[in-house]
Amino acid sequence: MTELPQAGHQAWSAPTYVANARFVAELGQDVLAWAEVRQGLRILDLGCGDGALTEKLVEAGGEVVAVDASASMVQAARALGLDARMMSGEALEFDNEFDLVFSNAALHWMTDADAVIAGVHRALVRGGRFVAEFGGHLNVAAIATALRAAATHFGGDPALASPWYFPTPQAHGDRLTNAGFDVARISLIPRPTALPTGMAGWLKTFRQSYFEQYDKNDRDAVVNYIVDALRPSLCDTEGQWTADYVRLRFDATKI
Ligand code: BEZ
Repeated sequence: MTELPQAGHQAWSAPTYVANARFVAELGQDVLAWAEVRQGLRILDLGCGDGALTEKLVEAGGEVVAVDASASMVQAARALGLDARMMSGEALEFDNEFDLVFSNAALHWMTDADAVIAGVHRALVRGGRFVAEFGGHLNVAAIATALRAAATHFGGDPALASPWYFPTPQAHGDRLTNAGFDVARISLIPRPTALPTGMAGWLKTFRQSYFEQYDKNDRDAVVNYIVDALRPSLCDTEGQWTADYVRLRFDATKI
């Protein structure tokens, strides 16, 4: 299996992800509660990653199909015994077959939001729900600014700093409404997030494609430049790093 195209051409490594980003699934508990999973609910987990939250959906009684654009992630999810399939969220291949489409920390990688929403709408039965949480407006703003500054300093491309879709509730809500959803709830949730392996671990996990633009011999210097720029804002006096996460969470129903 090869990687399917997605924003920033991020090539995921499930082992690196597990080491540096286990918190992503742990912080998904609130959106999981919004999903209100019950026995027999037919669920599509969109952007399932390594399957950590997919397992929770199954444990709660859901009949879950999980999709992800990363071969490494699909492999990790399958190793948990899950029905995980490699598929782009921007080209979903389902028609009228799910009661719930669930997604955590994945939609910001899918920059063609209208294609995602259209595919989710098609995948749901009438009255089915789309419940998701992802990066919203101002998410990782300080980190993106440091990446842009480093690109300018080291002769890189500042456009590679922030390849994500981080909309406002108004903008994303309008897209959902225009596509035939009734939006019950949508809001931004500031969530400063402690990074267990520091800023360097976060950068290695989530911005790999940004660093690939630099010569191998220069990459450590670029990482150090970014870490030094962010330290006064995002690292406390005990050395604990916190990322400036802002989530957008919503609950919408297919009309
Ligand atoms: C997030 O979960 O908000 C996120 C993860 C990786 C890159 C950017 C944002």
